[in-house]
Formats: sequence, structure tokens, C-alpha cells
Amino acid sequence: MPNKRIGSTESLQEGGKGLRFDVRSANGEVMPAFAIHYDYQYFAYLNKCGHIAVQLDYMPGEFFSDDGESLVCATHGAEYAPDTGACQGGPCYGVGLEPLEISQSDGQLFLENEDLDIVEKK
Ligand code: FES
Repeated sequence: MPNKRIGSTESLQEGGKGLRFDVRSANGEVMPAFAIHYDYQYFAYLNKCGHIAVQLDYMPGEFFSDDGESLVCATHGAEYAPDTGACQGGPCYGVGLEPLEISQSDGQLFLENEDLDIVEKK
């Protein structure tokens, strides 16, 4: 049975640190991802900048801008909308983050993408 549980919603504060996790595709590729709490909802994306394929956070889990209104890539400052992943500015040049489908149940977040599962933390 594939693991689909991302983690507890309790660990995610509105506009606060993101929850990092890894997903595995059907062909075995492991990709970093993260979940955030924004505007009373939860969102998750692959942790991959639209500019160059690097992870966004400069410190683990630090994704939000100072004003909490965008997700920022630490490398060159590309900005993304927290609720859609769309490129809002900087060198992402219209390439947004790749959203993941998630659901919430009993205080837990679950991955809904059928072709992905969660890599267990060691
Ligand atoms: S790698 Fe993210 S803005 Fe350049």
C-alpha cells in the first residue's frame, strides 16, 4: 500500500515554515516537495524553481516572503503565488511551481496524485 500521508496540519502555521517531504514517481524518480498553510488553506508543490531546477528554500522550510504574500526562491528571488504556484515576478519568466493534489482529513494532509507516493523518512 503506497504511503500517501504528508504530515500533520498542526505543524503548519499560516504563512509559516513549510513542511518538506519527498515524493516518488511511478518510474522511481524521487523529487523534493513541500506543503504550506496560506489563506486558511493548505497547498503543496514540487520544491523546484521554474527558473533553474533547484529547491526554493534558503533554510529548510523557509518559503514565504517577509510579507507572507509570495513564495520566494532563495537563489535569484523568483516569486510565486502561494495559492496557485504561478510565477509572480523575478526570473521564473512565467513558469510556475508544479502543484500537487492534496486533501485534508482528521488533521492530516494526504497526497492525492495517483502517480506519486510519499518517500518514508528514514
Ligand atoms: S533558480 Fe530560482 S530564481 Fe533562479
